Amino acid sequence: MDFLIRLRELKAYKTETTPCKVRLSSNESPFDLSEELKDKILEEIRKINFQKYPDPTARALKEVLADFIEEMDGVVVSPENLVLGNGSDELIHMLISVVGDLDKPVLYPVPTFPMYQVSSDILRRPKVEFFLNEDFDIYISDLDMALYENPQIAFFASPNNPTGNSLNPEAIRYTIDRGIFTVIDEAYIHFSDRKSFLKLALEMDNVVVLRTMSKIGLASIRLGYLVAKKEIAQLLDKARLPFNITYPTQAVAKVVLTEGIEEIKKQIEFVKFERERVLTTLKEIDKVKIYPSDANFYLIKVPDADFFHKNLIRMDVLVRNMSHLPKMENCLRVSVGKREDNNAFIQALKDVVSEL
Ligand SMILES: Cc1ncc(COP(=O)(O)O)c(C=O)c1O
Repeated sequence: MDFLIRLRELKAYKTETTPCKVRLSSNESPFDLSEELKDKILEEIRKINFQKYPDPTARALKEVLADFIEEMDGVVVSPENLVLGNGSDELIHMLISVVGDLDKPVLYPVPTFPMYQVSSDILRRPKVEFFLNEDFDIYISDLDMALYENPQIAFFASPNNPTGNSLNPEAIRYTIDRGIFTVIDEAYIHFSDRKSFLKLALEMDNVVVLRTMSKIGLASIRLGYLVAKKEIAQLLDKARLPFNITYPTQAVAKVVLTEGIEEIKKQIEFVKFERERVLTTLKEIDKVKIYPSDANFYLIKVPDADFFHKNLIRMDVLVRNMSHLPKMENCLRVSVGKREDNNAFIQALKDVVSEL
């Protein structure tokens, strides 16, 4: 029963579930959809024949999504450039299961989004991890060393989670230029003013971009997408599980990505503005180090993360304790929330500092 031993050793993906009034731990959008949009969604949900399988190709949703990308990024994409996933998690898993020789490693920097490691472990694929530098960016010399291990697929989350910063595009380009199949995970790109890799993904055989609707207001429906050259997208689509995008997900996404674009844009602008306001305020607090962020969350370093995490919970504020991860000693990751929640966090943090 080797598989039971393996499963016992497997580190599963963990989320923060402690109940708290102010929840700033999951990098979700602080805002629910408007009542008007929800009414329109309800109308569409009513039309669903629930006994039927959804459109397996999600063609209509892909058309809407292609327009949405053009609107948000100014890049022309066609439905054939897209592969849809039940969250981008599913696409990460799918890519690790099919790209390159399966006995050759998956490359990613550390610290980063844990699913690259979790999926590689589930699929029993070797990994090459290399450390980010003290600014949480990539030194090409460290990357170069890692490339000696002959990885066949590389993941770069940019902006990166949990650090919040964007990664050096030259390092990403360096990996691409060595012919390695390179995945740029742009889950947080809408909160950044940095350039996307979308255009390169549409041109090159070994570049794909991952995106998700989870950070811009639709975490509940689980919808991620991959953008690639048509030939590559069509081949990767063969490895997608059938009917992975449910009928309700397709219906909701179609409404929000057409009639809700202005709402989404406003939420993004709010989060970017609010993030800078909060970071400016936090800089004034003694003993707390602030890291710059291009995402809808930010990282802070405190004198004792376990103490701060526990006491913030006592004050009804939940953030993510990252201290257990390599290079993340005493770091807490905090999502940008509604103004009142951010203020509650700032006050609670000040209170914990004063208790030191
Ligand atoms: C960098 C990164 N990629 C992918 C994901 C997964 O997103 P989804 O909800 O689409 O599975 C996350 C979620 O936190 C993330 O931080």
